[in-house]
Amino acid sequence: MIKVAFYDAKPYDKPSFEKYGKLHDMQFRFLETKLNGDTAALSAGCDAVCIFVNDTANAAVIDKLYKNGVKLIALRSAGYNNVDVRAAFGKVHVVHVPAYSPYAVAEHAMALLLTSVRRIHKAYNRTREFNFSLKGLTGFDLHGKTIGVIGTGKIGRIFIDICRGFGMHVIAYDRFPAADSGIEYVTLDELFAKSDVISLHCPLTDETRHMIDADAIAKMKKGVVILNTSRGGLIDAEALLDGIKARKIGAACLDVYEEEADIFFEDRSGHILNDDLLSRLISMPNVIVTSHQAFLTEEALNNIAETTVNNILSYFENGGMCDNELCYRCGNIERCKSERKQRCF
Ligand code: NAI
Repeated sequence: MIKVAFYDAKPYDKPSFEKYGKLHDMQFRFLETKLNGDTAALSAGCDAVCIFVNDTANAAVIDKLYKNGVKLIALRSAGYNNVDVRAAFGKVHVVHVPAYSPYAVAEHAMALLLTSVRRIHKAYNRTREFNFSLKGLTGFDLHGKTIGVIGTGKIGRIFIDICRGFGMHVIAYDRFPAADSGIEYVTLDELFAKSDVISLHCPLTDETRHMIDADAIAKMKKGVVILNTSRGGLIDAEALLDGIKARKIGAACLDVYEEEADIFFEDRSGHILNDDLLSRLISMPNVIVTSHQAFLTEEALNNIAETTVNNILSYFENGGMCDNELCYRCGNIERCKSERKQRCF
């Protein structure tokens, strides 16, 4: 039986993982705690750990897992910025779920945009109290507006299709533009200067960290709406708040936040929030925050569990080759997949 320590387990994770685990004689040890230096020891006796976006697998944690005999880190997410893939090389293999429902995230981004520009969140609260006034609820048409999409991978492209359905003019920036995609690529500066709405769909890397900072905001149109359903670290949140206070940014919709790790996914309603920046952002009338829920659909949860279990099985039972293995040497995972004939090490 393959034993897996499942960190940061939430009630919505268990049914799908138990279902697929049972099919393959895989036992999950569900742990509510996140993976970090203090909790790595809880993986003792397990063959693999299964982690999510706010678990930490840095070099020190990886060493502890390795010493515990853990052979595999199975990310149940697409993003892997929380794993030091270089430090893992030669010690612990890393697999991820490259796509589970790009529609879930793209549709959530559009849901946030529509909610914001049509003030649905405000109207909902008003009518619940029988306040039928329309004062302050004037929005604007998305039709004819220019949207700048940063990152035209799986999610970015679906989001582009959705935006085109609304009659928006789409421009995009990607470090690796897709050839023959019919996408109108521009430079990042051009995107900042021309967009009425900017949506982030690229990964968090050393290069993209704080790509939306004070300099970038200075280049944007007055009244720009910023959407972030990718990773919090893409935005310098202090600069965002300054831009909002200066009335430069018209609205911000954030599903992710740089310092979300100790805050998001939990009910903190009875507590005093220690993060002044997040408190201030949430208090703004033109900011909508959701708690990293863009992925959270039935379809996505099912696909995440199925792919993660298959990743673990491929590693332990099917000769060790897993298409979804990540390694720092591979760099371009997609290209590597087609060329790789054996485990990365
Ligand atoms: P993907 O790998 O298919 O696409 C990412 C795109 O970003 C690629 O086209 C890549 O060339 C581009 N890119 C890489 N470096 C760049 C740079 N420096 N500047 C501009 N573009 C760059 O990834 P996918 O599946 O579309 O996911 C995008 C991001 O969405 C993930 O990295 C993850 O952080 C986030 N995500 C958020 C979720 C949520 O629940 N909020 C759920 C799933 C993913």
